[in-house]
Amino acid sequence: MAEIVVVSDRADAGALVADEIAALVARRPDAVLGLATGSTPLPVYEALRPRLAGVDVSRVRGFALDEYVGIDPAHPESYRSVITREVVEPLGLDPARIRTPDGTLEGIEHHGEDYEEAIAHAGGVDLQILGIGTTGHIGFNEPGSSFASRTRVKTLTQRTREDNARFFDSIDDVPTHCITQGLGTILDARHLVLLAFGEGKAEAVAGAVEGPVTSSLPGSAIQLHPHVTVVVDEPAASRLAYADYYRYAYAHKPEWQGL
Ligand code: PGA
Repeated sequence: MAEIVVVSDRADAGALVADEIAALVARRPDAVLGLATGSTPLPVYEALRPRLAGVDVSRVRGFALDEYVGIDPAHPESYRSVITREVVEPLGLDPARIRTPDGTLEGIEHHGEDYEEAIAHAGGVDLQILGIGTTGHIGFNEPGSSFASRTRVKTLTQRTREDNARFFDSIDDVPTHCITQGLGTILDARHLVLLAFGEGKAEAVAGAVEGPVTSSLPGSAIQLHPHVTVVVDEPAASRLAYADYYRYAYAHKPEWQGL
């Protein structure tokens, strides 16, 4: 079972996950981080800043989950730009060691495979940060995605395009396609940390954690992974049938157990 941690707010979630990442980097200076975009991981990156200040992060490596297809990499909302602005620059990481899938149209049919090779070459992802979409997607694996899928081009649902329209001038500017790590790729990471905040995510969280394992709710793939931490605030936890048990288990967690 995933460990479910119900926190009081985003800052607490950020602190909890940032502690774990800082400990990983201290243990392994060339740690491979699985980075996510969107609003959800921002408190983690914020909390990481003071924790990594003065730490040698020059060897830390990172792989983003996904990228829009056909977007100019220099566009402020390309995930390359977002990762640079929100993670690489504030944390002082080496941009050459942080990759996002290549969403440029030329050669797009090979970019997924290239990305998989790069992750394998790095020795795999140590800790993968995940958000979850209202459609239940993780990465951009929309409903119906195969649990065996690897990095590839996907079509975004209209719902996801609407959810992401807030980052663009209009929904018409939100790309139709993306290139995303597959569910199989994500499941290969050694530790999955899924965060979700707000009532709007409650249904997706309940489905991912407690619902049947089904490609109709791609986040439910986390139930197949041996080491998952789900960090949610109270509104995002509001549809969990066993929330009391998760609180009880966390309150009685043996000290020697990390996240
Ligand atoms: P959000 O997106 O963090 O912006 O809510 C999460 C996701 O779509 O995975």
